[in-house]
Amino acid sequence: MMSEAIPNLSAFDDNALDRAFAALKQQAGEEAAALTSADGLEAFKLRWLGRKQGILTEVSSRWLKGAPPEAKKAVGERFKTLKELIEQLREAAEGAGPTDAVLAAEAIDITLPGTRRLTGAEHPITRTLNEITSVFAALGYSVGVGPEVETDFYNFECMNFPPGHPARDTQDTLVIANQERRPLRDRLLLRTHTSPVQMRTMERQPPPVRIVIPGKVHRNEADDATHSSTFHQVEGLCVDTNITFSDLKGTLDHAMKALFGSSVKTRFFPSFFPFTEPSADMQISCIFCGGKGCRKCKQSGWIELLGCGMVDPAVFAFAAEKQPAYDPKKISGFAFGMGAERIAMMKYGVSDIGQFYVGDMRFLGQFA
Ligand code: PHE
Repeated sequence: MMSEAIPNLSAFDDNALDRAFAALKQQAGEEAAALTSADGLEAFKLRWLGRKQGILTEVSSRWLKGAPPEAKKAVGERFKTLKELIEQLREAAEGAGPTDAVLAAEAIDITLPGTRRLTGAEHPITRTLNEITSVFAALGYSVGVGPEVETDFYNFECMNFPPGHPARDTQDTLVIANQERRPLRDRLLLRTHTSPVQMRTMERQPPPVRIVIPGKVHRNEADDATHSSTFHQVEGLCVDTNITFSDLKGTLDHAMKALFGSSVKTRFFPSFFPFTEPSADMQISCIFCGGKGCRKCKQSGWIELLGCGMVDPAVFAFAAEKQPAYDPKKISGFAFGMGAERIAMMKYGVSDIGQFYVGDMRFLGQFA
């Protein structure tokens, strides 16, 4: 192939040499001028400068080495200038960058609007969970999580719902099938509340404890505008020496003001939970009417928001099996649990709880 690229030299006089070298110079110049792409430049370099089969190598081995001794100097000088020319052409082509034709093909119209990419947004429930936990984080609470598939022991038994206790009926849930051979306390179910993480926390860590636990829970519940069989809670637990009901009230009153605004009021009604004694339901003054009475608060001026109470000594007794420091004679604590959906519905004016779960972008986009 290269033998075609350069002819054989039959004469080595100055004229013959000038013509032969001029032909190569012209050829190289034309090829370099026609380069339009990086691929073309690579091919040009290989063709002229390639070590084994490049034209310069060919000229060197056939014209220079093949020259009679008296013509060597004349061939050598011309070879040197040819080589310099090829190098210059290569450098120029490398420095020139893409040609106009290539630029035109790649051109973009910078006056066109850009591609708009949707930025994601936190789901309103995630956002609410984060807002609630950060209110408590600011009070020095840590944030924890626990398993959604829980044992009967953690969900019920250690929370002081003994087997057969009627309070279990209020928290009916899905259970994992085919566990009849296991002891009741080891059987798995979808947790009905985040309270089992109270025990998981205490078993890992001696007092003092201040923790909030957001998470998903499940109940046998007919879905309607305000109920869902899957929903979210934020659990709170505070255990230390001399924790009183006043601490509970002060903490929750502060948290509600942080969440709903400083004019919101709280009040506490006696209630029952197996794992707190005394237990209370906390209400806040209606954030829609300011307490005057409206449809949202059923004219009462108050809205029920969460369950709470002082940790029952029976719960501490379970914790003390692994962490003896949970001695109800020495420490005390309070706990609370609130539903995130209810709070999100109030904060964002959502009237149908189902909107949180269907993934309709027209709904979710409003929180972006
Ligand atoms: N676990 C209770 C519920 O799901 C709420 C609660 C938590 C009550 C902590 C008191 C203390 O309803």
